[in-house]
Order: sequence, then C-alpha cells, then structure tokens
Amino acid sequence: MKIGIPKEIKNNENRVGMTPAGVFELIKNNHTVYVQSTAGEGSGFFDADYESVGATILPTIQDVYAESDMIVKVKEPIEEEYDLIKPNQVLFTYFHFASSEALTLAMLKSNAVCIAYETVEDEEGTLPLLTPMSEVAGRMAIQQGAKYLEKPIKGKGILLGGVPGVPPGKVLILGAGVVGIQAAKMAAGLGAHVTILDVNMKRLRYVNDIMPSHVITEFSSEYNIRKHIKTHDLIVGGVLIKGAKAPKLITRDMLKDMHPGAVIVDVAVDQGGCIETTKPTTHEDPTYIIDDVVHYCVANMPGAVPYTSTVALTNVTLPYILKLANKGWEVACDEDKLLAKGLNIVKGTCVLEEIEEAFGWNVSC
Ligand SMILES: NC(=O)c1ccc[n+]([C@@H]2O[C@H](COP(=O)([O-])OP(=O)(O)OC[C@H]3O[C@@H](n4cnc5c(N)ncnc54)[C@H](O)[C@@H]3O)[C@@H](O)[C@H]2O)c1
Repeated sequence: MKIGIPKEIKNNENRVGMTPAGVFELIKNNHTVYVQSTAGEGSGFFDADYESVGATILPTIQDVYAESDMIVKVKEPIEEEYDLIKPNQVLFTYFHFASSEALTLAMLKSNAVCIAYETVEDEEGTLPLLTPMSEVAGRMAIQQGAKYLEKPIKGKGILLGGVPGVPPGKVLILGAGVVGIQAAKMAAGLGAHVTILDVNMKRLRYVNDIMPSHVITEFSSEYNIRKHIKTHDLIVGGVLIKGAKAPKLITRDMLKDMHPGAVIVDVAVDQGGCIETTKPTTHEDPTYIIDDVVHYCVANMPGAVPYTSTVALTNVTLPYILKLANKGWEVACDEDKLLAKGLNIVKGTCVLEEIEEAFGWNVSC
C-alpha cells in the first residue's frame, strides 16, 4: 500500500503522524511511504531520518494526498485539506467529528474512509489511542503547576518539594484516571504531599496499592473538596464522565476559600472543565487569574512537547497502521472489531450514531 504522512498545518501543531521507526516497519512490510518534506521537523525528525529508512520525501502536501492510498496524521483535516482528499482514500487520525459539523460534512462529501483514533477501543473498553495524550497531559500538569506557583508569575511562591526544614507543597488531584495517576506520580516524585479524589473505589484502591504513602486517596464529595481546597496549593482537574461534559466540582464561590496564588491546572478543559471558572487557553497565553487563583487551562497540553507526544502516540498507532496497510481497511476492520470501532465515516456514509446525534440529524447511521 502507498501510505502518506503530510505535515500538520493546523495552527501550532508540531506533532507528526509517524516517526522514522514506524516508517521502517512499513517499509519492512513492503509498503511505500511518502513523507511531506519537513513534516517531522517540529517533533525533531528530519527528512534525512525518514529517507534513511526508505521513505520517499515529497515536496508538497498536494503530492502526498495525490500519491497515497492511506493518509496517517495527527489532527483532523482542516479546510485547506478537504479538497485534497480522494474518494476511497483511508484517513487514520484524530477527528472528533461531534465537535465540528463542517468537518463531518466535508468528510461525507469526500467519500473517503475515516478511521478515528479516538473511537478505537481495547478489550477493557478503554480508548488506547487517547491514553498516551492523557499520560502526557497528566505529567505536564505538575510541571506547569509547579512553574506557576512561582512568585514572578503570580503564584504563591512555594517550591512543591519543599527543602529540609520547610514542608513540601500540597497537590489536590480530582480524578484518579489516566491524567490523575500520572499527575500523582509526578507530584509524589517531587516530594509534594498529594491528595487524590475519585468516585470510583476501584481506582482509589489501585492508587492506594501502587503509590507511596504520601499519596492519600479520598472519596470525591463536595464536602471533601471544600475541605481540601482550603489547604492545597495546586489543584489538578482530571475528571471525565465518558460522553458528557465534566461536572463542575469547584464552583466560583469556592475560590475565595483558596490561598491567594494557589494554582488550578484544569486538564479536563477539553470537556468543559471541572472548575466553574475554567475557560480554554493556549500555549501562547496559558493562564489567567480569578479571585487571586491562577488558572492554567490549555486545551492541547501535549502540543507543547511534540517530541514526547509524537513518539507516545505513534507507539500505539503503529500496530493498527500495520494491520490496515497489510490487510486493507475492510479485512482489518472485519477481523478486529475493536479497530472497527474507529470507523466513523465510510465513503459518504456516517457509521457512528453519536455523530448524527451530536448534530440532531435525522438520517440513520
Ligand atoms: N487539556 C489537554 O490537553 C488534555 C489532554 C489529554 C486529556 N485531557 C482530558 O483530561 C480528562 C481526563 O482524562 P483521563 O484520560 O484521565 O480520563 P479517565 O477516564 O482515565 O479518568 C477520569 C476519572 O474521573 C473520575 N471521575 C468521574 N467523576 C468524578 C468526580 N465527581 N470526582 C472525582 N473523580 C471523578 C472517573 O472515575 C475516572 O477515574 C478528559 O477530559 C480528557 O479529555 C485533556
């Protein structure tokens, strides 16, 4: 199969759909790989790295789309790419269709086969192609939180790990899922005192089993949240209720109970945020202050660390890419029903009910 890796053209997107290691595997399996010139540069992979494993470098994005049977990328296609997509071409990438009717209509019109990373499932019913980005964001939440606790950037002026003779900072984590556990691990590693809350006792038992004793688990209730925000310096929001907006666990009136200069990193901002005062920010202008509390609410946190994010993402996408390339999408999806859950739009037909529901369309999937 001919596989194309275009350069991402969405604003500030530096990740790339495949590393030279992935290209190496595809070439080993007798496929042809076209990489757009400079596609990997933002992630630290250069044309020569791709060429050295057998990829063909093409000068423009038009060439890559025109030559390829399957396009592997990171973000959903943007308007400039819509007309480049060919009928029957397979697109394997993040789409998040429910958040854009224009994208959905464009992909229906293209007659392409759209397989979305975010709906591929594993045996446990979790989303294996989303997990690495939550891992990155969870770990980054502490790195960013620690930075914004510094006084020159309006934080409280404390060092999370403390020093001999000075107690460490206190980190409160809402949600003990992928984001929450990775955040807890980083905070604990820095020596901070960590409290992690969840409504799922299984998750709390797991955290209690694997984390050091200065990571305390508690049930997530309004009472406990009100109690802890008075004493904690950094709060990380990592709550998710699948398919729903995040619940507002900290309301505006509660901010006055927090220390001035305390920091909130609401990772769940992409689902509306679990703090009432959360509004999406960007890497260019990541924070704002309300009631003396610093808010960091960047909706694409992994974008700031494209090397780590690209490698983490492509580690998990590669086995699926190989399956799709070796067998063709129809046989691959027929044999692997969990990969088939990634099928969102197939040659002009929407095959995932949630998309039509999101737009209130009357056509049945
Ligand atoms: N901002 C970013 O760049 C970025 C990057 C990756 C992920 N995310 C987002 O981070 C959020 C968390 O992702 P995840 O992969 O950790 O999800 P997850 O499903 O692994 O974990 C969510 C956890 O929240 C818990 N929860 C639900 N209701 C709760 C409540 N009332 N109190 C406490 N805990 C509660 C669940 O039991 C679960 O353990 C998602 O919204 C995800 O989209 C954002």
